[in-house]
Amino acid sequence: MRRTKIADIFKSGKAGETVLVKGWVRTRRGSKQVSFIALNDGSTIINLQIVVDIDKFDEEMLKLITTGACISAEGTLVESQGSGQSVEVQATAIEVLGPCDSTYPLQKKGHTWEFLRDIAHLRPRTNTFGAIFRIRHNMAIAIHKFFHEKGFYYFHTPIITASDCEGAGQMFQVTTQNLYNLQKDENGNIRYDGDFFGKQTSLTVSGQLEGELAATALGAIYTFGPTFRAENSNTPRHLAEFWMIEPEIAFCDLQDLMDLEEEFIKYCVQWALDNCADDLAFLNKMVDNGLIERLKSVVGTEFVRLPYTEGIKILEEAIANGHKFEFPVYWGCDLASEHERYLVETHFKKPVIMIDYPAEIKAFYMKQNADGKTVQGTDVLFPQIGEIIGGSVREENYDKLMKRIEELHIPMKDMWWYLDTRKYGTCPHAGFGLGFERLLLFVTGMANIRDVIPFPRTPGKAEF
Ligand code: 4AD
Ligand code: MG
Repeated sequence: MRRTKIADIFKSGKAGETVLVKGWVRTRRGSKQVSFIALNDGSTIINLQIVVDIDKFDEEMLKLITTGACISAEGTLVESQGSGQSVEVQATAIEVLGPCDSTYPLQKKGHTWEFLRDIAHLRPRTNTFGAIFRIRHNMAIAIHKFFHEKGFYYFHTPIITASDCEGAGQMFQVTTQNLYNLQKDENGNIRYDGDFFGKQTSLTVSGQLEGELAATALGAIYTFGPTFRAENSNTPRHLAEFWMIEPEIAFCDLQDLMDLEEEFIKYCVQWALDNCADDLAFLNKMVDNGLIERLKSVVGTEFVRLPYTEGIKILEEAIANGHKFEFPVYWGCDLASEHERYLVETHFKKPVIMIDYPAEIKAFYMKQNADGKTVQGTDVLFPQIGEIIGGSVREENYDKLMKRIEELHIPMKDMWWYLDTRKYGTCPHAGFGLGFERLLLFVTGMANIRDVIPFPRTPGKAEF
């Protein structure tokens, strides 16, 4: 007999049918005569109740049906009396596929998030993490669907690279050199000519630069892959390895860019509301009571579009009115998360797209405004999260871009191919990067980014 997934049983199972289900025991309770097993197979957050008449089964086998055990159960679907579900299974045959050792750490409810991170190899078996990882999958599907329907091509950019797109010097080096016997030149600098790639290479912080090459040929592309940053930020919003979605679009100006950013996020959030209802209902009940309301409100709200200079004025007024920030506010400062959250959560009470940042605090590639001070960067700021998207119109003028590269002392030998786009038929273009896990923080209501990626990498942590 073929196995039926539990989600399909709740969708279309009819009383009287015989089914075979396989999954992991969440709980077992009952009396001397009858046992009730709550079975979960990952296809839905909702457990299927298996009713077992104890006299009909082997006592030794039944002893093995404990929390965490893997079993298969065959039986008849009957309308459920007590389990809160539409149907349950009256078991006719049970097999224990994998007994569970009594040291299984997920015995009781109410483990802390920290404890669950330490057993990240098992936490997908909990209701909460099952929900989060199903939502994570659904968000990835939503992203591909959104761009595919808009005619964007999914473009694969390299993970190993010799260029630092963001220029922040936060890269993990990739080498096959013998670290105990590094070859150095007469000045004591490490020689890379004998290294695997013949030059110094690292894990990418962004696929944007290669994305721009593709956008100026295919018109509109997006990347969706892992990115790596060796920033020593122990915050609930930073990972050393995270996934980023980076669309890049030819003939796109600042207005088009902001429209796309807003439409994209709303599409993803609406997708979650439409396709992850059971998981969201669970998270809304167990993790964050305001979650579903917040998701709906974002979909139905027009985002604020705010020049940086005006944002600074609002923050300065707040300080004048007695609001205290940890970090100073002045024109030219890089906004801290507390500033971003004040604007979004206290002042506007909705998402904000901040634009026209001082050039000094943004990357070299952003399009320079006529004022000579600001650039056409866009950060999308979200409630609870702060920055969820960073993007910009790109400087398409060869001379202006070159001047900026020189001012910032960016090594030219690694950039010649990027500059070629500005030499050979340059065009106005723009793009942005969405941090996948930041989106997931918002959609799941979880508070720590370590809890929306299966196996988080953060300073000092690379277990599993
Ligand atoms: O603002 P960032 O650094 O922008 C770029 O990398 C551009 N190249 C994007 C582009 O224009 N194509 O990063 C983009 C987003 C941030 O807004 C944030 O959501 C996320 O990536 N992000 C991180 N997420 C988790 N952990 C980190 N350490 C992150 N750093 C950035
Ligand atoms: Mg940024």
